[in-house]
Parts: sequence; structure tokens; C-alpha cells
Amino acid sequence: MGSAPARISIIAILILCISLLHYLTPLHLHYLHDIFQRFYYIPIILSALWFGFRGGLASAIAVSIIYTPHILFQWGDHVSMEIEKYLEIVLYNIVGGITGLLAQREKERSIELQKTAKGLEESYQKLQLQSERILVVEEQLRRAERLSTLGEMGAVLAHEIRNPLGSIRGTAEILKDDFPPGSAKHEFIEIQIKETERLNNVVEDFLRMARQQPLELKECSIAEELRTIFRLAENQAKTAGVRIVPAFTADGLPIKGDGEKLRQAFLNIMINAIQATPPDGSVTIALERSDSGVAITFSDSGIGIATEELEKIFEPFYTTKSDGTGLGLAITRKIIEGHGGRIDICSEKGKGTQVCIRLPGAK
Ligand SMILES: Nc1ncnc2c1ncn2[C@@H]1O[C@H](COP(=O)(O)OP(=O)(O)OP(=O)(O)O)[C@@H](O)[C@H]1O
Ligand SMILES: [Mg+2]
Repeated sequence: MGSAPARISIIAILILCISLLHYLTPLHLHYLHDIFQRFYYIPIILSALWFGFRGGLASAIAVSIIYTPHILFQWGDHVSMEIEKYLEIVLYNIVGGITGLLAQREKERSIELQKTAKGLEESYQKLQLQSERILVVEEQLRRAERLSTLGEMGAVLAHEIRNPLGSIRGTAEILKDDFPPGSAKHEFIEIQIKETERLNNVVEDFLRMARQQPLELKECSIAEELRTIFRLAENQAKTAGVRIVPAFTADGLPIKGDGEKLRQAFLNIMINAIQATPPDGSVTIALERSDSGVAITFSDSGIGIATEELEKIFEPFYTTKSDGTGLGLAITRKIIEGHGGRIDICSEKGKGTQVCIRLPGAK
């Protein structure tokens, strides 16, 4: 309660008032003096509580000095009363000192406790942060393990598939010449070529993902890369009746990155968004500076993703499309994380999807 000077003033005023009561009250009203002399305990105890041992003792001594002349000059004729009053003075000093000492210890203990509580709080927060980090690393390890087993198996398989695939395609091309357009079998051979091409794309994509290609980090402008994506996806968007809105004016925003890989990642996201959006819908690309680099957000007004599917969409081969490989987002995440960035997806079924990519800025 109040600052130190305010507290000292309160104590001084109390002592002064009580002393005035003593000096101004006639001696024959001795029962009043008895009461007044107990009033002195109020400022003494207050002072002890507020200022500890020294405060309690200082007030007691002040009271003794102010009260003694009154005893000496006014009670001097009543010896028994005089002794009683001196004893009270001794008591003032004992009470002031002991209460001060106790209050001081209590205060020190509570400061100590506060320090311990603060230390505990800090340790708890550190522990929580570390356990969160462990969870993230654990998840990354699990994913890496899954990808590396899958990668090893798949790379061998893909390699073995690619060669016969080339032969099948080659022979189909030869056969096509024997069946001119319009003949019934021409269409079958067209299907055969198209399907082998699709299979080849899957294998190529997979091999690209399985191979640990080093990133070629150079300074590149994200805005520039996004404009290229806009141009590349424009046609597909037009066919699908989807509007692409490049909602950024930012220029430059340089980062250290592999432009080609980043374009591949952005294009995967862009194509997913266009494929998920019904005609007359839109896909917005936003770009802004973030705390540690840049944030790129692709928002579509498409079909959205159910919560239980959200955790699967980054898994290799997870797809809901009849002609999808399910590798798009797995490759995309690998590219983004290879750049020290992160990709987050928020989505609501029937409303749309937001894919947010954060990349560290060029140092
Ligand atoms: N913007 C989006 N809106 C709705 N669903 C999406 C979106 N992006 C991804 N998905 C879901 O995530 C799945 C996995 O996407 P991913 O890009 O990895 O593979 P894909 O698009 O199915 O196949 P590919 O990329 O080879 O064409 C998709 O099949 C789709 O169900
Ligand atoms: Mg895709």
C-alpha cells in the first residue's frame, strides 16, 4: 500500500497524534492514558510490517523518545505509574524488533518462493518447447524412414519398369502406322500410347523424388517465379473455367533457392488448386514478407479437403483422382523443406483450400 515516503508519513502522523493525545489529556483521566499508550503499537507494528526489523525498531525508538518526557515531567510524581510506563517503553522496542524481524523473514521467504516459481515456470516452458521439437523431429524421422524404404524399393522397381515401357511404347508407335485414323483399332493403339506415357510420367516423377538431387541454391525472385507459374497454368485454368488472381504487388523478395525446383513445387500446388475448383471459381496467389523470409499462399474456392484426409495428402501415392499419381504434394514438401521452409494446408470441405508456404529470406 503506497510508496515508502507515504508509509513513513502515515507512521509519523500516527505517532504524533497519539503523543499529542498524551500531552493534552489531563493526568486524572488516567484510564485514557492507558488506552493511548496501547495505540502506539499500531504505528510500531505497521512500521515493522512495512520496513522490517530496522523499521520496527526505529518507530519504537521514536515513540520512546517522544513519550519519555511525558512520563518524566507529567508522571514523575507517581512512582509506580512511572515504572509501569517505562516498562511499556521496553515492550515497544521488543515488539517493534521482533515483529520487524518476523516480517522481514517472511518477505525474504516470499521473494525466494517467487524466484523459485519463476525458475520453475521457465524450466517448464523450456521443457515444453523441447518436447514440441522432439515431436517434430520424430515425425520428420518417421517420414524420412518411410520415404527412404519406399524410395529404395521404388527406385529399383521404377527402373525395371521404365525399360519395357519404352519397348511397349515403341512397338505401339510402329503398329499405329498399320491402323490409320478411323479404323477401330487405331483408337486402341492411341489409348495404349497415352497410357504408357502416363505410366512413364509416374515412373519419372517417382525416380525424381527418390533420387537425392542436390539443390542448386541461387538468389531468385519469388515474385518472378510466381509470374512464370501464372503464365504456365493460365491455359489449363482457362479450359477449366477457373480464374487465377495474382494478388501481389511485391517485387523481388529475393530468396536463396533453386528456381527450377521451386517452380515445380508451386506448379504442383497450382494445378491441384485448379483441378479442385469448379468452373467460375478462382485461385488466388498471395505473396508477402514474413518475419523470417517470405510467405506464399495459394487459396482456392474448390471442393476442399476433409480433416481426416488432410494428414494423408502428403503421403506418396495418396490420390483421390482417377489419373493422379499422388506424388505431387510429396515432391512439393520435399522441395520446400529442402529449402529450409515449411508448407501448411488449411482446408474446409466444400469451401476451399489454402496452401501456405514459408521460405527463409536470402541472408
Ligand atoms: N487444392 C486442393 N483442393 C482439394 N484437394 C486437394 C488440393 N490439393 C491436393 N488435394 C488432395 O490431395 C491429394 C494429393 O495431391 P497430390 O498433388 O499429392 O496428388 P494428385 O494431385 O492426386 O496427383 P498428381 O499430383 O500426380 O496429379 C489429391 O488427390 C487431392 O485429393
Ligand atoms: Mg497434384
